[in-house]
Amino acid sequence: MVDAPDSKSGEGNLVRVRVSPALPTTNKTMKNIKNLTAVFSLFSTGITIVTNGTNRKQFFGCTVNSFSSLSLVPPKFLFCLGNENLNLKSFKLNSPLNVNFLAKSQLNLSNKFAGSLEKRWVNTKYKIANNKVPFFPESLGLLEAKVEKKVISGDHTIIICLITNCIKLNTKKPLIYYKSKYHTV
Ligand SMILES: Cc1cc2nc3c(=O)[nH]c(=O)nc-3n(C[C@H](O)[C@H](O)[C@H](O)COP(=O)(O)O)c2cc1C
Repeated sequence: MVDAPDSKSGEGNLVRVRVSPALPTTNKTMKNIKNLTAVFSLFSTGITIVTNGTNRKQFFGCTVNSFSSLSLVPPKFLFCLGNENLNLKSFKLNSPLNVNFLAKSQLNLSNKFAGSLEKRWVNTKYKIANNKVPFFPESLGLLEAKVEKKVISGDHTIIICLITNCIKLNTKKPLIYYKSKYHTV
């Protein structure tokens, strides 16, 4: 049961309505998802690695291209993580995190942080930022931030963050993602 606007009263009152369970995935749905993914992939993005955790045992990092700037005053950005991501719950409200904007030279790091969780921090060079969270000094830029809000929407959660510090690190070529492949400018 969910709350929905009451169309009879016309006054925006909420009534409880029954929602049908999700339909089983059909071949047609799968085809639509493939088609949607193909169209989404025509939108080129930069690539980031989002890191969090303030001691070695808790360090987490994940390759993310759903980053978007959100607000200048106050300074905010957002990114989306799949609801099935086991580390989603580590992004607690007010907890610190970093966003690393990747350079072309960090292609291998991008693959590493999209791959096996166990291998991500093995032989990976990092430094610790002011907020005690690791970052990658070879990146183009760094945003230090804290989690302000989490909004579940569909199969992803939007994580809205308040920026606490921003640093230009290097003037190198960016790593770009387009049609599911790496590029640069
Ligand atoms: C270029 C690229 C961009 C990605 N962007 C996202 C993203 O925005 N959100 C997300 O949840 N996963 C994204 N992924 C997938 C994750 O990096 C990761 O492989 C997957 O979520 C499993 O992560 P986990 O082991 O931390 O659960 C991206 C992967 C690549 C290669």
